[in-house]
Amino acid sequence: MVNFKTSGATDALRRACPELRLVTEAGVLASHGRDWTRFREPAPCAVAFPKSVQQVCELVACASAERIPLVPSGGRTGLSGGAVAAHGEVVVSFDRMRRVLDFDPIDRTVTVEAGVVTAAVQELARTRNLYYPVSFASEGSSQIGGNVATNAGGIRVLRYGLTREQVAGLKVVTGRGEVLECNRGLVKNASGYDLRHLFIGSEGTLGLVVEATLRLTDPPLPSKVMLLGVGGMDALMNVFDTLRADLALTAFEFFTDRALHYVRAGLGLPKPLDTACPLYVIAEFDCPTGAEEDRAMASFERCVQQNWLLDGVISQNDRQVAELWRYREGISESISHFPPYKNDLSVTISRVPEFLQRMDELVDEICPDFEVVWYGHIGDGNLHMNILKPGAMELSEFESRSHEISEKTYALTQSIGGSISAEHGIGLLKRPWLNRAHSAAEIEMMQGIKNVFDPAGIFNPGKLL
Ligand code: MLT
Ligand code: ZN
Repeated sequence: MVNFKTSGATDALRRACPELRLVTEAGVLASHGRDWTRFREPAPCAVAFPKSVQQVCELVACASAERIPLVPSGGRTGLSGGAVAAHGEVVVSFDRMRRVLDFDPIDRTVTVEAGVVTAAVQELARTRNLYYPVSFASEGSSQIGGNVATNAGGIRVLRYGLTREQVAGLKVVTGRGEVLECNRGLVKNASGYDLRHLFIGSEGTLGLVVEATLRLTDPPLPSKVMLLGVGGMDALMNVFDTLRADLALTAFEFFTDRALHYVRAGLGLPKPLDTACPLYVIAEFDCPTGAEEDRAMASFERCVQQNWLLDGVISQNDRQVAELWRYREGISESISHFPPYKNDLSVTISRVPEFLQRMDELVDEICPDFEVVWYGHIGDGNLHMNILKPGAMELSEFESRSHEISEKTYALTQSIGGSISAEHGIGLLKRPWLNRAHSAAEIEMMQGIKNVFDPAGIFNPGKLL
């Protein structure tokens, strides 16, 4: 166990990095010491706002020499406590590193500093008649450095993949004070270990991502969205199979009637369909001409005839596309006040019905007194299970009950070859169950890698490993 210096850390940093902006004001400590999780109180000793790679290097050199724990922080929209600083750490915010450094139309890449907001990259791409496909509800505040550190997913992974697939190069400051330039935007590079991929999804435990070169792609074709009502999970998977074969899907998302109840109440939305259904799907597909729409309607009819679909609507214009997406994208926010205990599970697509069936049985057995809200990126096998805190229950009691549920949920997930975190990361909250995601041998190797990049153990201690 490393002995960290938390008292006197700010003095040491002020001496070593006189140019660095270091804030100890209570409001900033409270806002920057947490992410969207609500199970730990923020208690950093300071928040550092470097404005250049040089300042990051100086900060890391001092922290490494003095054993000062650093918590990297982006847009603080994480859901696993990866950016929580609850033990006197120094938060490293990238709010002042928001420059777009390069755009190359031939390579179709953009190079940005870590603090650039995801939506700003999307917008930049759009103005160049290109597209940055990583998209999720918090894209208006999440930052690229955080996206890389958590390998952010979202609603269009089905078509475009995760953040990993978009990263053409990374500049990283390691715990040894070196600046690594990984892959430098190359498409092909068969020169040994690709360290870039170690940093993607490393949750700030190996180094600080300071710059990223991201691939942009062709703008999407005009699309349409169907909101569909389904009777059960087997039917839903048959609908997925049918639509995937007939249409060029860009997203295939699901939510339950309970999720619909909360999002309607939270956003004041009308009933999306006349028929009340247990499950709903949002399916988005390329629809540049009437031919694709005809194909979608024929597909829809076939699913209705098979009794897989109970009801459905299709968007007629871009405004309706956005309106239908609100039923899915608004769910997370609409239940955030409970707060929910979030589980972010994945299994192979073929095992989704079996998994959900067994999870339903488990929930009935171990927590019939809790409301559980399911939604997710079912086309990727990624299911978000949100356990809502009952109003009268103390947060600490709720957390310990949720831990008991996690034990059984993760054991079941592991038994069918799934993962305990599909896209939110292990962070602080899932760390006790890392052994449900990786074997002892894998964890030992991960620890070995951590020791190479961060020998003083200063990066995000207590997270992931
Ligand atoms: C989502 O899919 O809506 C996000 O991952 C956020 C969440 O799980 O609540
Ligand atoms: Zn998600």
